[in-house]
Amino acid sequence: MVSAHPPRTTDPVAAGAALRAGRLVGLPTETVYGLAADATSSEAVLAIFAAKQRPSTSPLIVHLADARDIETWATDIPDWARALAAACWPGPLTLVLTSNGHAAREVTAGGATVALRVPDHSLARAAIAASGTGVAAPSANRHGAVSPTRATHVIEAFDAETVACVLDGGPCHVGIESTIVDCTGETPVILRPGAIDIDMIARVTGYAVSTRLEHLPATRLDAAPTPAPGQARSHYAPRAEVRTCASTNDALELAAQLRTTGRRVALVLGDGPKPTGSPMAEDQVLLATSDAAEFARGLYESLRAADAAGAEVIIVVPPVGPGLAVATLDRITRAAAPRDADQSDASAPS
Ligand code: TXA
Ligand code: MG
Repeated sequence: MVSAHPPRTTDPVAAGAALRAGRLVGLPTETVYGLAADATSSEAVLAIFAAKQRPSTSPLIVHLADARDIETWATDIPDWARALAAACWPGPLTLVLTSNGHAAREVTAGGATVALRVPDHSLARAAIAASGTGVAAPSANRHGAVSPTRATHVIEAFDAETVACVLDGGPCHVGIESTIVDCTGETPVILRPGAIDIDMIARVTGYAVSTRLEHLPATRLDAAPTPAPGQARSHYAPRAEVRTCASTNDALELAAQLRTTGRRVALVLGDGPKPTGSPMAEDQVLLATSDAAEFARGLYESLRAADAAGAEVIIVVPPVGPGLAVATLDRITRAAAPRDADQSDASAPS
């Protein structure tokens, strides 16, 4: 028997009722779609881990309807973390704070800290408000796969027994996951780069900000060779192998080379407009822009499109620069990383 996919809804009150009843709901946010459940219910949260096949050692972000709800979940909040919340919420910023124990222990993976954010999406906040609680929500993809940026991606990934409904809030306008800042030390530490960048965090807090990517130190694109064929499986990873190049010219050259060996290639270009005069590449270019925000918005969708088109290799030219370029480079580096190294790190985003 083919099981049905979850129904689509645009009614946040219905989504909130499902959450209150302990069910899983696909939740739109400005970054990526989340797979949400009542963050105070161990049973509901365990269903998230089961649905995603996510290791239980990886904690979840609790999404709040209103910044004032921070007090319900966290304690010993430094003034500079409050300043970040005031400046950036609702928005693509997650604050790691000392938990007061209100979140189910599965949310924090048994740890002493809790990650909180108020999403910049009115339907999401309406659904959370209607649920009467905060909702734990990882990205609504299976562990290690590409995060969803449209309701359809979530609907297709799960069945109706597992997910009560998917709240359709349209395509995500940021397109990559939130910036995560650890606020439990003396000064802010970025754990995952996102649309709220290091300069913004430094400006708001008045501190020098450090970065501790728990995962891969992806701050610049190495000219080093990309992973060997067949090895490129990782977090945020499509089915196809991901290779990186420093420029569109390099990408076209590599594409031509790969095609001579009969491999199907797709290109995702972050250093300028779609190249012309190269008939070989034109129809395989799934994204081409030098605007980092536009690149971030389209990145995951283009990785999905490459898989759907049956590409075997996706050649990506990451945008260069500060802000969102750093964040997209981080995701691309992970997508191109060998899967084994990646999965040994249970704290890595999923
Ligand atoms: O934009 C986002 O953040 C999206 C949308 C749905 O809000 N959510 C998301 O969730 O990306 P997820 O589960 O895919 O990534 C959550 C990340 C993981 O890397 C996890 O380790 C980290 O947040 N995290 C959660 N709680 C934490 C904590 N208490 N301390 C440190 N890291 C934490
Ligand atoms: Mg994720």
